[in-house]
Amino acid sequence: MAVNIHTTDFLTEATDWIGSRIVAVQNERGADGLPFLLSLCGGGTPRPVYEALAVYPGIDWSRVLITFGDERCVGPEHADSNYRMAKAALLDTAGIPEQNVRRITGELEPGEAARVYDSALRTLAQERGEETLSHDLLLLGMGDDGHTASLFPGTLALHEEQRWAMENYVEKFGGYRITITYPVINAAREVAFLVTGEAKRPVVERVQAGAGDDPASRVAPSSGKLTWLLG
Ligand code: 6PG
Repeated sequence: MAVNIHTTDFLTEATDWIGSRIVAVQNERGADGLPFLLSLCGGGTPRPVYEALAVYPGIDWSRVLITFGDERCVGPEHADSNYRMAKAALLDTAGIPEQNVRRITGELEPGEAARVYDSALRTLAQERGEETLSHDLLLLGMGDDGHTASLFPGTLALHEEQRWAMENYVEKFGGYRITITYPVINAAREVAFLVTGEAKRPVVERVQAGAGDDPASRVAPSSGKLTWLLG
């Protein structure tokens, strides 16, 4: 069952919600425990939250591993790159070492980028002794068309049940994106949507009611831990 958190101060409340979870799990696992596996979403909403998270007290960033929910098919320096946004807002400020980050290589041919990323996720799963990679926290945004990550309405990636990452042709962009797929999303220990703005309210309601065929409505982690941080 999803939990809705209607925030009055989205930035502070979303940062606290995420930061406190990382601290709690790290304390629980101890210094020699499994690193916290955090998947970042792209777009504009999360940026200020990542900036605040970078200085959130108590997080040992050397024990956090970072993956990405999706990437545009551009290089890491490109203005549209989700990695570039996250690097500026979080990775550099928090001092997260390169070796802790699994970047989607959007500069490669889309199929190759997807294969490389899928393989990186599978290596992570092996290292963590998991059959399916299970993120401690997987962050997602949502578009006003009900997409999430780069799982857009009417696209092939919506039907993928084997691969954990794939190239996804998106008609409205006339190009590809690289996205994680539902098998990885729904294997996460906890999933949180970060959604702000009045315009998306009716979409959130429609998604939560399962009243349409929105890609976001198929996010249903088997752990049952799904939260909507709403601003
Ligand atoms: C991307 C994101 C995408 C995003 C939504 C919401 O690469 O753009 O992963 O899924 O989360 O489009 O974007 P905003 O937060 O900018 O509204």
